[in-house]
Amino acid sequence: MKVTLSVIKADIGSIGGHIAPSRRLMETVRSHVHRHGEGLLIDSAISHTGDDVAILMTHTRGPGDVEIHRLAWDSFRMGTAVAREEGLYGAGQDLLKDAFTGNVHGLGPAVAELEFEERPGESFLFFAADKTDPGAYNLPLFLGFCDPMNTPGLMLAPQMSQGFRFVIMDVAHTGGDRVIELEAPDALYDIAALLRDTERYVVESVWSRATGEQAAAVSTSRLHNIAGKYTGKDDPVMLVRVQRDFPATGEILAPYSIGPFVAGCMRGSHQMPLMPVRLNAGISYFDGPPVISCAAYSMREGRLTEALDAFAHPFWDTVRDRVASKAMDMRRQGFFGAAMLPMAELEYTGIVEKLRALEDRFHVRANHR
Ligand code: F6R
Ligand code: MG
Ligand code: MG
Repeated sequence: MKVTLSVIKADIGSIGGHIAPSRRLMETVRSHVHRHGEGLLIDSAISHTGDDVAILMTHTRGPGDVEIHRLAWDSFRMGTAVAREEGLYGAGQDLLKDAFTGNVHGLGPAVAELEFEERPGESFLFFAADKTDPGAYNLPLFLGFCDPMNTPGLMLAPQMSQGFRFVIMDVAHTGGDRVIELEAPDALYDIAALLRDTERYVVESVWSRATGEQAAAVSTSRLHNIAGKYTGKDDPVMLVRVQRDFPATGEILAPYSIGPFVAGCMRGSHQMPLMPVRLNAGISYFDGPPVISCAAYSMREGRLTEALDAFAHPFWDTVRDRVASKAMDMRRQGFFGAAMLPMAELEYTGIVEKLRALEDRFHVRANHR
């Protein structure tokens, strides 16, 4: 059976700043999806990571389907109305356009979709990150799909030994999707050369070379490219199919023990380490740290099992402690050097005006000694 997995997420308002949505907001989104998804969806699951609400849906209508996207858009609109009623902070923040125009691409919400012939025991991971942008997945995907030090399956499993094809997007290009396809392991160094620049080049999808099947889909929206200015970090979602022709669950999860520095956190303008957290976690220290959650699922004919919380295991408590120390170390240097993002990635542009005003006060000394 051919199934589509669609996850659409948006930040539509949260309690006490950018922490987490209210219970009533979540219930409103959930009940709208249930009521209006009848006859359209096979199954759905609503969750939040930090202040972002995600609607995970299974159906048979293929990626980019108008009705599926409309359902998510309308659910977020309903949730936004509640956010306004309750006085939540940033109500409707990610709904950047007023009218629905066929699908949510370019309207603000983030989307990741996968269509596949369901395997027996089909298993996948749903990742959601808050207070960061899609480049946060570059390193974990590189290690998970390219590096035998992380993924022994590349050596041990014959069906993986041909490697994987990466579709990488240039997210700085605003006149349409500018993409490149590169295959690992042949083009490993080219892939690495692009993926090191997380603000510009972002993995959009990963495909098995052996079967042509899609393994991963990442949301690539950059909100500031849509709005023309920074309106918040992009807080990307990702779907990854695991086992058999694809890396094992543990091979995909392992790179998150690194806690790599990513863009995000306070005022969307800092570099902070990415912390793996439990499902439905909120945000705290320094409007962060940037967090990532992972729900593991299996499915049968599009019906989802309950979500298993992949980062709830005690192992990740040690990782969280290490990431917290790393975060505090970085914060010790405040605004200095690598702690803050480069000018073009700052969410607040007030500093640009400040520097412009100071420009006039510079002068070149007449006499050199
Ligand atoms: C992402 C997010 C942040 C904020 C940023 C600035 O979910 O909430 O990227 O957009 O922290 O927020 P303000 O300007 O409201 O403090
Ligand atoms: Mg927010
Ligand atoms: Mg968010």
